[in-house]
Amino acid sequence: MKDALLVVDDLVKEFPAGRRSDAPVRAVDGVSFTVRRGETFGVVGESGCGKSTLTRAILRLLEPTAGTVAFDGIDVRGLGTQELRRLRRRVQIVFQDPLGSLDPRMTARAIVEEPLEIHGIGDRVERARRASAMLELVGIPPAQHGRKPYAFSGGQRQRIGVARALVLEPDLVFLDEPISALDVSIQAQVLNLLRELQQRLGLTYVFIVHDLAVAEYFCDRVAVLYRGAVMELASSEAIFREPLHPYTSSLLSAVPIPDPEIERRRDRVVLRGDVTPLAPQAGGCRFRDRCPVGRDRAICAEQEPPLAEHRPGQLAACHFPGELQGVLPHV
Ligand SMILES: Nc1ncnc2c1ncn2[C@@H]1O[C@H](COP(=O)(O)OP(=O)(O)OP(=O)(O)O)[C@@H](O)[C@H]1O
Ligand code: SF4
Ligand SMILES: [Mg+2]
Repeated sequence: MKDALLVVDDLVKEFPAGRRSDAPVRAVDGVSFTVRRGETFGVVGESGCGKSTLTRAILRLLEPTAGTVAFDGIDVRGLGTQELRRLRRRVQIVFQDPLGSLDPRMTARAIVEEPLEIHGIGDRVERARRASAMLELVGIPPAQHGRKPYAFSGGQRQRIGVARALVLEPDLVFLDEPISALDVSIQAQVLNLLRELQQRLGLTYVFIVHDLAVAEYFCDRVAVLYRGAVMELASSEAIFREPLHPYTSSLLSAVPIPDPEIERRRDRVVLRGDVTPLAPQAGGCRFRDRCPVGRDRAICAEQEPPLAEHRPGQLAACHFPGELQGVLPHV
């Protein structure tokens, strides 16, 4: 694909057996997707499904167990320390918790200057100039650049986190739940800022999110992750209007609709069962324990469904794609 910026192919991250379990767990279990230049690619799924581990394995903050990652045609897994450093300049990450990811002893300006220093960019004056300009771009006025993180609100702190990630002028930015720690009233402001910066700076985003309403609003395409694997991958429009995978349908049926009348009429698919990662050799469909469609079907217990294209551009890992959608009442 010509406009591919990030290609993830069959990525696996396995953690060794812990104290409480006697088997290793596959937090990421064969994930493949391509992120196109300039798009916002969403990764959605419940807590514990492997979103953060996937991000860390892609960036080699955790060493992947298997699979490949190519960024702009460069095989990330083959890179040495120096080359990895150069790559990290082009790929940045904004974390969920701005307070935890900002050094409380540093001023906002020093926090944003630090990545420039680490990568040896510019002299002191140039670095201070660039940090101030970036802080202003995210809406922190110059009079506040000398303050420390605790003196800012949650939303402002996340703006500083965004400035720190963008000051190196990256091509790709991972946003790992960047608004979920913020008050609802300021979530939209930060999302709008991210969108504005994307257009202005020509950024590509991978947006990790568990809130489906936010994913629908913000993402061009979405991958739905369940127990470490992609269940469905398509444009936001297809995923939210006509989901093919029973898991996607179930998730959507749990999204609150801001109309009490519709909310009362519609059915909810109650998800029962486990969300923990699978042991490496588990067979069959990983969703079958919770699946209203395939729970009692032999093929679902015996064969793991491959992630296959069932409609143009819409992939699902299910032996009976679209079947649950047919029985859910229309909302
Ligand atoms: N270092 C580790 N050792 C063992 N297991 C781990 C480790 N890190 C994560 N896991 C397990 O891998 C699974 C995926 O975790 P991960 O943090 O990637 O989920 P997540 O989708 O980001 O969840 P959340 O939405 O809560 O942030 C979880 O079951 C977690 O317990
Ligand atoms: S393969 Fe079977 S169990 Fe898995 S999601 Fe599809 S219908 Fe459900
Ligand atoms: Mg996470």
